[in-house]
Amino acid sequence: MADLAVTLGPLSLRNPVLSASGTYGHGLEMCHFTPPERMGGLVSKTVTLRPRPGNAQPRICETRAGLLNSIGLENKGVENYVETILPDMLGADTVVFTNIGGESVEDFAEIAARLDREPAVDVLEVNLSCPNVQGGKLPFATDPSNAARAVEAVRRATSKPVFAKLSPNVSHIGEMAQAVEQAGATGITAVNTLLGLAVDWRTGKPGLGTVQGGYSGPGIKPVALRCAWECARSVSIPVIGCGGIATAEDVLEFLAAGCGAVELGTACFADPALPGRIVEDLERLLDEAGRASIRSVIGSIRDGRGSSRDSAHAQGVEAR
Ligand SMILES: Cc1cc2nc3c(=O)[nH]c(=O)nc-3n(C[C@H](O)[C@H](O)[C@H](O)COP(=O)(O)O)c2cc1C
Repeated sequence: MADLAVTLGPLSLRNPVLSASGTYGHGLEMCHFTPPERMGGLVSKTVTLRPRPGNAQPRICETRAGLLNSIGLENKGVENYVETILPDMLGADTVVFTNIGGESVEDFAEIAARLDREPAVDVLEVNLSCPNVQGGKLPFATDPSNAARAVEAVRRATSKPVFAKLSPNVSHIGEMAQAVEQAGATGITAVNTLLGLAVDWRTGKPGLGTVQGGYSGPGIKPVALRCAWECARSVSIPVIGCGGIATAEDVLEFLAAGCGAVELGTACFADPALPGRIVEDLERLLDEAGRASIRSVIGSIRDGRGSSRDSAHAQGVEAR
């Protein structure tokens, strides 16, 4: 059976399949469908310092090739998360990522410091697609210096690994990747949702209460793959790919593009058992291809930048 273990900088994962924030509860809600010990890691929905009520309804709208959402980071705040969710996560036999959000650099620093004391949290994933109240509502994710300030604040506040989750809604995602790498990120998650909109032309009614929102699912896969590839070739820290992944073939494409692991999002709404099945399919596909280890796929894209081994090593992903 092919070896699915991967490393992401200091992290060892049993396989490269993780859940994506906001699409899999905090992780353990779905354990009847795929046991946590079958997954490389679980990523929580975004937790903020204070409770957030979320956006106006409707918050979800189905489109032909994906989903629009504008949940608005609804959550009960970090203290509630620590008291009610984390005790159970302590027993989860997988790597636990807590995804954090903030409206200011100080928010990010404070929540990171609070979670630094929690043994159930293995990794912080910084959701940079949050409204930046200080920056006139410009999200951290669209400005390299804002993104760097948020990541720097988190880096200073915790000794845990820090993954910066980037937005695809920028012209040069490679520059964003370099900015967060320089700010001390352990790794990058690429990407969050694309901005999108739906409208009923008969009534003029938008699909979402906020009119525009985040587009995810199969329609964004080629965009996400390009973003993840651009990040991987721009930095020497590991990259987790995310966006439209629904099959084991998709996973292997993100790995070939240079990612050390992937997150599954929208596809899990239709089938919460998908992560477990994808893990089985990965083993089968690699066996069929005569590959002893999934690590041989990482960075194997022929993009004129040297051998796969060199490129995987160059970004802190081990390719034994
Ligand atoms: C309903 C919904 C809620 C989401 N909530 C969050 C969130 O709280 N924090 C976050 O960083 N990303 C959130 N995302 C983005 C996903 O984690 C992921 O980056 C994005 O959907 C692209 O992956 P996918 O096409 O596989 O869904 C959310 C996505 C959806 C569809």
